[in-house]
Amino acid sequence: MSASVLVGYATRYGSTQEVAEAVAATLRERGLIVDIWPMRKVRILDQCRAVVLGAPLFMFHWHKDALSFLSRHREALSARPVAIFALGPTKSPTDEKEWQTCRAQLDQDLAQFPWLRPAALELFGGKIDPAKLRFPENLFSKQIAKGMPASDIRDWTAIRAWASTLAATLQPAVSQANELV
Ligand SMILES: Cc1cc2nc3c(=O)[nH]c(=O)nc-3n(C[C@H](O)[C@H](O)[C@H](O)COP(=O)(O)O)c2cc1C
Repeated sequence: MSASVLVGYATRYGSTQEVAEAVAATLRERGLIVDIWPMRKVRILDQCRAVVLGAPLFMFHWHKDALSFLSRHREALSARPVAIFALGPTKSPTDEKEWQTCRAQLDQDLAQFPWLRPAALELFGGKIDPAKLRFPENLFSKQIAKGMPASDIRDWTAIRAWASTLAATLQPAVSQANELV
């Protein structure tokens, strides 16, 4: 049996799932065996040697499924390399202030898990389709953000480049495990 990498994702509107699929595809192209699952469906991590977790920021916080995944799997995650990505900024790839704010939200949530030492940590631009927002995001969009324009600033080149570098980072953990089986 070969050791595998788990790509776990959380999503509300699908854009993070698409990024997780692109990350998984790139890791596979680089020779890794990859399972991809919504985080809330993952029960045990025994079979995987490394974990990639991706989730969006919503209303100032990383997705609750991602935070609860970290709490639930502390022991297993402490024993494996863990890479993390988040989707957040939606205004522009160059709006430095927005990127810094989103990154601070992510860092603040991850600070609740001081045992976590990510092997890689990245923030990507996200996507908004205001017509598809459901409660409570539709209310947040109207009342707090005062309307959010449609946007999709996901940078697929940057996403694949990150995943490609990540494959090299995770390779030693996966190879070592394969030598043992
Ligand atoms: C109502 C609403 C609130 C959001 N709040 C934040 C936020 O506080 N911080 C952030 O970085 N991004 C925020 N975003 C942007 C989302 O992270 C982005 O749209 C992401 O791509 C959504 O992922 P999903 O399609 O996988 O659900 C918000 C988006 C919406 C629609």
